Amino acid sequence: MTVTDSTALRRELVDRLTADGALRSEPWRAAVEAVPRHKFLRDGFFRRFGDAWQPVPADREDWLEHCYTDESLVTQIAGTIVPGDIRGEILREPTSSSTLPSLVVQMLEDLQVQDGDRVLEIGTGTGTGYSTGLLCHRLGDGLVTSVEVDAEVSRRAGIGLGACGYFPDLVVGDGLAGHPDGAPYDRLVATCGVREVPHTWLEQTKPGGMVLATLCGWMHSSELAQLTVGHDGVAHGRFLGRQVSFMLARPHLPPPLGILPDFESGEERSTRVGADVLDDWDARFVAQLAAPRTQRLSLTSADGTRHVLVDVEAGAWAALALDREQWTVRQGGPVPLWDAMEDHLLRWQTDGSPALDRFEIVITPQGQRVTWPTP
Ligand SMILES: C[S@@+](CC[C@H](N)C(=O)[O-])C[C@H]1O[C@@H](n2cnc3c(N)ncnc32)[C@H](O)[C@@H]1O
Repeated sequence: MTVTDSTALRRELVDRLTADGALRSEPWRAAVEAVPRHKFLRDGFFRRFGDAWQPVPADREDWLEHCYTDESLVTQIAGTIVPGDIRGEILREPTSSSTLPSLVVQMLEDLQVQDGDRVLEIGTGTGTGYSTGLLCHRLGDGLVTSVEVDAEVSRRAGIGLGACGYFPDLVVGDGLAGHPDGAPYDRLVATCGVREVPHTWLEQTKPGGMVLATLCGWMHSSELAQLTVGHDGVAHGRFLGRQVSFMLARPHLPPPLGILPDFESGEERSTRVGADVLDDWDARFVAQLAAPRTQRLSLTSADGTRHVLVDVEAGAWAALALDREQWTVRQGGPVPLWDAMEDHLLRWQTDGSPALDRFEIVITPQGQRVTWPTP
């Protein structure tokens, strides 16, 4: 690998990201051209092969080229495992990655920073910190703070950043609490998803400042929210309509499903909305709003497929099945889970199924309210 190779690959990346509309302004173009993403990936990354993950070490021939593809590169599996730990394959879930460059730069463009802005980033990244590096290049490292929950991850990101000559304030801790010592910030950007925007983030952002975060749910529909913080500490905003998905902030991960209830119990009724509606991203997001702690799974047997929804904490469940073109549901537990989702989905459909970029978000100290426009 030579410096010239990586410079040429970075120029190509800039051209690609400009052509697809992700890179929209000169300062961010200059940052992508300058920041060597490969220095954040020198511990290698994992590539998917079927259901498994295989390590790609930095001495492999195609490593450098991959570092400059517009791909999200997984850098940690199952909470601790990095590429150097593995020979062969591993079959577990990824827990950290170097985010897709187009998504990183699109978010940075959406953040609308001005020279001199102080930025708090949540989620520095495993052995990566690439987005932190771009922020440092654009604003100067003295104006950038990045919080990472995992100490080892933060340490590796610090090495990558240092190798590029950037020394931002790297904090180890739960980013849901922000970083009050450096507050107030002009901008807060989260590169891990949240189920609710923590009010602490608003408290640490200047009035008129912006919070950019992905609102996720346990049924795997998510949206990038752009919020402006008011003088009263209340934030108003909208979704950018990007179907952005991020790993959830660790404290917001779903609980284990535990022992499944008997889905044959409970009274059966017909339903006006079938489980197939949940295959649609926007509809699933709407359903999540009605029952935010619900997880979704499907169970297939010789009798057909059962579409199951479970709220572990409430001890509530619903199981839907298609029987001769009629959807039916059985429900159990203290709250009828499907009643809430069906009602919400029917109201959204009656209102013309508005797209998520037309929804409004309001965050107050009491919580988060998401609404869609009514005709
Ligand atoms: C997608 S990665 C970040 C990518 C990185 N910013 C980049 O540009 O490549 C998400 C990171 O968020 C971190 N994370 C998860 N929960 C967190 C929390 N509660 N506070 C801070 N960081 C968290 C994960 O450990 C992971 O490193």
